[in-house]
Amino acid sequence: MNNLFVYAHRGASAEAPENTLAAFRRALDAGADGIEMDVHLASDGVPVVIHDDTLERTTDGSGAVAAHRAAQLQTLDAGSWFGPHFAGEPLPTLEEALRLLAGRLRINLEVKATRAGLAVLDLLPSFPAAEVVVSSFDHALLADLRRNAPDLPLAVLQESGSWRRALASAVALHACAFHPQVDLVSRPLLAACRRMQLPVFVWTVDDAGQARTLARAGVAGVFSNDPAELRRHFPTTAA
Ligand code: G3P
Ligand code: CA
Repeated sequence: MNNLFVYAHRGASAEAPENTLAAFRRALDAGADGIEMDVHLASDGVPVVIHDDTLERTTDGSGAVAAHRAAQLQTLDAGSWFGPHFAGEPLPTLEEALRLLAGRLRINLEVKATRAGLAVLDLLPSFPAAEVVVSSFDHALLADLRRNAPDLPLAVLQESGSWRRALASAVALHACAFHPQVDLVSRPLLAACRRMQLPVFVWTVDDAGQARTLARAGVAGVFSNDPAELRRHFPTTAA
């Protein structure tokens, strides 16, 4: 059987509200190898964990994330939209998430807001045990991070368009991985990554059959909303 590294996408977001500590705890219980989360910046410069740049979809707040101070964001209910059982589940700061997860599994921080990049860098030294990979669709942001942090593990995200250009960015950045959307994955892409010795982690994969096909094709890992389901089919934790 092929090994497959399983990242819990936004935490175990099929079972708990995405990007909350509840979803991260569920991912730990499910035996995920890593957790992916999305990072924005509050108005007072504090990195916070939420996918959208606005609050309406996943909280009881409204407006732009960047228009609120972290203390205000921490009072929001980021759980009720998912189900009554999660009512009152807070929107976490990145520091709270790292306090829960550092030293327990790999953490993929997807930086959504350009200005959040350097705030993430400022926070990481407080968590020396954290195994962190920083990723972004914004390759200029990643280049900025590389200038400031020569040893920080970076991964290049790509959802459409020219994966060849994205791969060239990954090589120039000395990235540790390439994170394409599943629709982009093809034999030529995997062959090019193999030549460049760049492991490929694909998003988003919840179906075990699809995961098996990808593993056989040489994909190193997947991002899944349902890590418990994938762990049932890929019981061996990948290195
Ligand atoms: O990091 C992979 C994936 O999370 C990127 O897409 O929209 O789910 O943040 P999105
Ligand atoms: Ca993400």
